[in-house]
Amino acid sequence: MKKAEQLYEGKAKKVFATDDPNLCIVSYKDDATAFNGLKKGTIEGKGIVNNKMSNYLMQMLERSGIPTHFAQELSDRETLVKKVHIVPLEVIIRNVAAGSFSKRLGIEEGTPLKCKVLEFSYKDDELGDPMVNDYHILAAGYATKQEVETITDYAFRIDDLLIDFFKNIGVDLIDFKLEFGKTADGTIILADEISPDTCRFWDAKTHEKLDKDRFRRDMGNVEGAYAEMMKRVFQG
Ligand code: TMP
Repeated sequence: MKKAEQLYEGKAKKVFATDDPNLCIVSYKDDATAFNGLKKGTIEGKGIVNNKMSNYLMQMLERSGIPTHFAQELSDRETLVKKVHIVPLEVIIRNVAAGSFSKRLGIEEGTPLKCKVLEFSYKDDELGDPMVNDYHILAAGYATKQEVETITDYAFRIDDLLIDFFKNIGVDLIDFKLEFGKTADGTIILADEISPDTCRFWDAKTHEKLDKDRFRRDMGNVEGAYAEMMKRVFQG
């Protein structure tokens, strides 16, 4: 597969065209941002962890019937993926109160929730990724009703599968963010990444944070947390 021109550079990844119009190459960087790009830094080795962990989890989800963009891991930092048009929504699932949920509602981090929460944000850094509901999405034309239903169904199924997987390696899945894309024929598939950048992982016993909150909140040992998650995912 030949890597062709760069199509896009995001905050954590670059995307390249290939000689196949239905496939792209994603290249994971060590760059880290938070607060819509206001805080910038580097997390040494993060690109490798996120690439490999995301590929591992997407293949696991595929085996359980969730369609994903994963095609083939090419190297430590590069993966061949199906080309999609990203649905401009961040899809967040919450199992335990944390982060912006705790802040907005005044509910202490770590409080168990009486039911799972699904939130949508419109992906737009300049607007600060505003939270939107189903009506906003339909009214603005970000997705159709059918697409919102498909995405919602996949997101809750992914949550069940990931909770089980992480429980087995001593990690509580607190919350996470997904992005979906549409292939040329209109099929909705899981895209982007599943990694310590996009999930909150807490050690099940000590509740130690093993994710990007260590960078967002200047907690130290950021690289150590990514390395620990990598070790647990691949060695149990
Ligand atoms: P939040 O509590 O800050 O809204 O974050 C919820 C989850 O979404 C958390 O696991 C981190 C993830 N997330 C992203 O992946 N990208 C983002 O830009 C934000 C704000 C959160």
